[in-house]
Amino acid sequence: MQGNFKYYNPTKLYFGEESLKYLKDELMNLGERVLLNYGSGSVKRNGIYDEVIAILREGGKTLIENPGVMSNPTLEKLREGVRIARDNKADWILALGGGSVCDYSKGVAASVFFDGDYWQEFWLDGQNPAKEQKILPVGCILTMAGTGSEMNGGCVITDAEKNFKTGHVFDSRLMPRFSILNPRYTMTVPVDQMKAGIYDIMNHIFEQYFSDYDDNTTDYIAEGLMRSLIVSSRAAVKNPQNYEARSNIMWTATWALNTLLKCGKSEDWMVHMIGHSLGAWTHAPHGYCLAACSMAYYRRAMEQGRAKFARFAHNVWDIPVEGKSERELAEAGLEALKEWMLEIGLPLTITEIGATSQMIDGIVSTSEIFPAGYLDLRPDDIKEILKESL
Ligand code: NZQ
Ligand code: ZN
Repeated sequence: MQGNFKYYNPTKLYFGEESLKYLKDELMNLGERVLLNYGSGSVKRNGIYDEVIAILREGGKTLIENPGVMSNPTLEKLREGVRIARDNKADWILALGGGSVCDYSKGVAASVFFDGDYWQEFWLDGQNPAKEQKILPVGCILTMAGTGSEMNGGCVITDAEKNFKTGHVFDSRLMPRFSILNPRYTMTVPVDQMKAGIYDIMNHIFEQYFSDYDDNTTDYIAEGLMRSLIVSSRAAVKNPQNYEARSNIMWTATWALNTLLKCGKSEDWMVHMIGHSLGAWTHAPHGYCLAACSMAYYRRAMEQGRAKFARFAHNVWDIPVEGKSERELAEAGLEALKEWMLEIGLPLTITEIGATSQMIDGIVSTSEIFPAGYLDLRPDDIKEILKESL
């Protein structure tokens, strides 16, 4: 391994069917006034809300409720949450939902005590809160597997007026203080969202795997996670009520994006950048946006990073090396990926998620560009990738 890195992750995890009972212990270390953020009502329909409220009430907490955190939370909703937290003097925030609610809660937590334009400072300028700035503690009760938000500092917000979706990865002060992961809770996630979450997990692993040329232990960990996800995704699609599969998916999601897989890696987040822009234009689920532009992207990346894609074919998909050139092996790996995506029912074109050729220039204009593993993209390359993905 050639890279230098720091690894630190302060989030405490409680995992399994009994994990909610530990919320009581956590309450002892937190203030009286809790801002409870949740989404559009799934937690009320499946009963998780009632269980959580009972524990909060028993723990003597005063509830400030902020429902309606939408999928792909907007800047307008962020501003509303900051106002509610300030007006009600919240001591801490409890996120009850998927990645959107967890992300949103971190965004509010970072902004409540910021004296100025927090959107500009944190998201547009990419700054972290100053050392002396107070930040509200965040706890998460996760109801959907995918983003890894439960154990990272990521917070993605959409400026709906400008069709601009952007994320900021906050420093470790914004990583949740604790996260409760009960795989049983994910059983009521609609199957489409489950599939979107599965591809989001896979793509987080890709974004950290397809880069560099050295032999790095981190890549072997990534391959193990991919193999587990392939097995569990097939089982979960066949039977969404398969607890073993759903629990493995949840656990894989957390490790796919909790900063472990970037250790010693240069990373390549361009599928996410294009995917975020697609999301802002189409409002399709995050994982579907990534899936829809992936094949065109990775075919390009494979041309420059052939050895890694050949390794992917063999170590992840068990494709025999014998009798194949490096290129043939790399191509066979991408073919296996495509077959798996088709098998579990993911979109392979941007048309399937509602994008049109007329939107392409707009999608390119709102797509951020970062240094990428094997590629050095310009806006015209993104345009080509999107056209190939139609
Ligand atoms: O609104 P509710 O009622 O919560 O319903 C949600 C929502 O409609 C529903 N859902 C969640 N848990 C459920 C459930 N429905 C029934 N039963 C349950 N147990 O599923 C829908 C999608 O939820 P959402 O939270 O939006 O999905 P996800 O977890 O995929 O989060 C997506 C957001 O996370 C960002 C994305 O860009 C997007 O904004 N990301 C955050 C990252 C991070 N923090 O590091 C990285 C990711 O790459 C991603 O960008
Ligand atoms: Zn993602």
